[in-house]
Amino acid sequence: MLSDKEREEIEAEMARYPHKRAMVPEALRIVQTHRGWISDESVRDVAELMGMSAEEIDTIASSYNMIFRRPVGRHVILFCDNVSCWIMRSDAVRDHLVKRLAAGPGETTKDGRYTVLPSACLGDCHHAPVMMVDDEMHGNLTPEKIDRILERYT
Ligand code: FES
Repeated sequence: MLSDKEREEIEAEMARYPHKRAMVPEALRIVQTHRGWISDESVRDVAELMGMSAEEIDTIASSYNMIFRRPVGRHVILFCDNVSCWIMRSDAVRDHLVKRLAAGPGETTKDGRYTVLPSACLGDCHHAPVMMVDDEMHGNLTPEKIDRILERYT
């Protein structure tokens, strides 16, 4: 069940959108901000509030890589897995990240600190290889830089 605060925030946003379908990502973002991820129950609750089917909400949720349909760690690392980053040897940096965290793509570290997810182009190709931790972009990655970045998030 959505909390009063979640419901309030979604309804306030709904008033700003002429088409409810366009509002779905924002509604899901609101719920995810409160809960960390979007469960099947949350999909059904958002669908009910917005007068849409759960299948419609789920389809939209699944098309956004920033909407998490499974529990994630305290910090989410989106590691760019696209062509400009490949050219700049992102594979070596990703291998270091995976080794350092002992968590591969789609996995969460044992301490629940990080979840690593592969991502389509993050839009910062001129700083390739690139990753994003929560809302913060990190570019020109090297194994040494990865080590320093990981120390910053608790
Ligand atoms: S290909 Fe990696 S940021 Fe664009």
